[in-house]
Amino acid sequence: MKKICVIGTGYVGLASGVCLAEIGHSVICVDNNKEKIDQLKKVICPIYEPGLEKLMAKNKKRLYFTTDIKDAVLKSDIIFIAVHTPTREDGETDLQFVENVSKEIALVIDKYKVIVSKSTMPVKTGQKIKEIISKFCKKGVEFDVVSNPEFLKEGTAIDDFLRPDRIVIGVESKKAEKIMRSIYSPIKAPLIFTSIESAEIIKHSCNAFLATKISFINTIANICEKNNANVEEVALAMGLDKRIGKHFLKAGIGFGGSCFPKDVSAFINVAEKSGYDFDLLREVKKINKQQRYNFIETVKDKILGFKNKKIAVLGLSFKPDTDDMREAPSIDIISSFLDSGAEVRVFDPVAIENAKKIFKDKIYYAKDIYDVANGCDVLIILTEWQEFYKMNLKRIKKLLKKPIIIDGRNIFEPKKMEKLGFKYYSIGR
Ligand code: UDX
Repeated sequence: MKKICVIGTGYVGLASGVCLAEIGHSVICVDNNKEKIDQLKKVICPIYEPGLEKLMAKNKKRLYFTTDIKDAVLKSDIIFIAVHTPTREDGETDLQFVENVSKEIALVIDKYKVIVSKSTMPVKTGQKIKEIISKFCKKGVEFDVVSNPEFLKEGTAIDDFLRPDRIVIGVESKKAEKIMRSIYSPIKAPLIFTSIESAEIIKHSCNAFLATKISFINTIANICEKNNANVEEVALAMGLDKRIGKHFLKAGIGFGGSCFPKDVSAFINVAEKSGYDFDLLREVKKINKQQRYNFIETVKDKILGFKNKKIAVLGLSFKPDTDDMREAPSIDIISSFLDSGAEVRVFDPVAIENAKKIFKDKIYYAKDIYDVANGCDVLIILTEWQEFYKMNLKRIKKLLKKPIIIDGRNIFEPKKMEKLGFKYYSIGR
């Protein structure tokens, strides 16, 4: 059992902290948001993540929460930094939280500690952390900096942490390597030891590659649409080629969330600073934005303009199994409907509270799938929540003013929808 502290209780920090306790370590989670820490102390999970609260309760004897960063650092041998690393408008990563935390750590450490960066950080941040700690720590205190990027996805965070494809660890000393090896020994996954810089680039490369796969298939979808082909068939056959792989080939209205948009921009910036123009990624970003606008145009076209139209929207979160609406396509799409004079009704199984913060009283928040459809000119689907697949389509048809469904996530079979009497439009088929 290791004594670990995790600084930052956002998605990555909290899920990592709870999972590190689950594999047997004693973990102190630190955050400067007192309200959040008070909630966590009462075993209330502040984010929507299936299974996380249960796991917190299961491990409560090994899991502590505090706002006192000094005390947490002093009591721990390994310190994970999992604070936010937002990307500014110009693509530059804002490292102020990482830098502040590094300084705070430096000022209190009195013996050897391993400082691990868990958040996604641009290459060379590890070296920056090292410089800050060396500058502010007491003379003679030894430490190691490690880069251990996290690959967990919202909605499947626990499984991704406990059963990962691999664990990437960028280290500079055998001592730190040994400690990291023992932290993760209960997890059965290959440990990939690299330099700190490689680990940092691995994380950005993975997210950039996956985002590229999505923009690629969305472009293929647009070509399919114009040529009477079906992108689902194309993606299936492509994905069976082991060199390509079946994941992240789902065409739709593009990617959102707290990672892909931010990391793609940050990686373009990293490349630029290295004297390289990452045009390919710029295009990935552009295609992703365009996909939302194409969808808006399709809706406009199929319902003959937005003026005085009533639009039912199913799904608001950037993907299913999360209440997260950061960079969700639904924000641009609904805003555009409203700006063009349409009335909008929405339903989402968990993201309504977050939607209220964005749209306030400009839209109607329906209580279920059927309430949202009532009296609308069209029903549009923006997130593929499991419960939407099971909706009673006959009932929906009766409730809609016109039987039009425009599906941004391809959840239904076009032939079946046609048989049911819908005018059904989806992506790339
Ligand atoms: C992502 C990475 O997958 C994860 O490794 C990293 O740690 C954080 O960023 P996350 O943002 O939680 O995770 O969601 P993910 O499941 O990867 O989906 C991202 C976006 O891509 C969603 O908007 C989703 O709808 C979209 N997507 C995904 C597609 O449009 N098509 C696909 O085939 C897959």
